[in-house]
Amino acid sequence: MLEVRDLHRRFGGVVALAGVSLAVAERTITALIGPNGAGKTTAFATIAGFHRPDSGHVRFAGRDITGWPPERIARLGLVRTFQIVQPFGGLSVRDNIAVGAHLHLAGRAEARAEAEAVAHRLGLGADLDKPANALPIAGRKRLELARALATRPRMLLLDEVMAGLNPGEVAALLPTIRAIRDGGVTLLMIEHVMQAVAELAERCIVLAEGRVIAEGTVADVARDPVVIDAYLGEGAASRLASDDAA
Ligand SMILES: Nc1ncnc2c1ncn2[C@@H]1O[C@H](COP(=O)(O)OP(=O)(O)OP(=O)(O)O)[C@@H](O)[C@H]1O
Ligand SMILES: [Mg+2]
Repeated sequence: MLEVRDLHRRFGGVVALAGVSLAVAERTITALIGPNGAGKTTAFATIAGFHRPDSGHVRFAGRDITGWPPERIARLGLVRTFQIVQPFGGLSVRDNIAVGAHLHLAGRAEARAEAEAVAHRLGLGADLDKPANALPIAGRKRLELARALATRPRMLLLDEVMAGLNPGEVAALLPTIRAIRDGGVTLLMIEHVMQAVAELAERCIVLAEGRVIAEGTVADVARDPVVIDAYLGEGAASRLASDDAA
């Protein structure tokens, strides 16, 4: 579904992506993990057309989309969410989600109807008329997901949708994310909440200093000394390796 080959991107003197290659199979959940500053968000932004790569290629759904603008990539079905969620605070939840629906629906009434349907799927049905900035953090994260889903994506790039949630809220979001995949959407998710990674992801790609340093099942990468050293630490690694995850 998605194939990234030798992606490079620098910001001035900072090399954010130093040759990233990865592939994601259709209808799977893959986690992208790694330390702060590893280049995870930059990888998403470059794949989704928000940054041009300095070199390298991105293929999605059989097309070379390298250098396409974000809206054209979204129309093909590849949509990212943002690590720092930025809803239109004064707009209602319904209208925020309708912005996503407008990618494929021109009419206002149709977009709002689609927004309502998506809101119900994401547990935001009771919040439709609230201004987005009245939602607590967990609601804003769900709203970010809803806006992306309303575009009817074939693949979503989720940037830390669990960040800032308490353990109960994380647990509540797990089945929602599984249901999105079961609905036919391929997922690549950046996540620091390793419990969520272990529960959801069948594959895990580890990025450090702009390079892929490991990939495999969560249990595989949790056993990898290079990953333990660069990111997980001994404690988290041994907990994950003993899990029957993925
Ligand atoms: N727009 C930008 N301008 C300049 N430097 C940037 C920009 N975006 C990212 N960087 C730099 O690129 C590197 C990778 O950043 P990125 O945000 O991709 O990391 P990340 O893996 O998503 O980290 P985190 O887990 O903290 O979100 C960092 O050194 C960061 O400071
Ligand atoms: Mg990031």
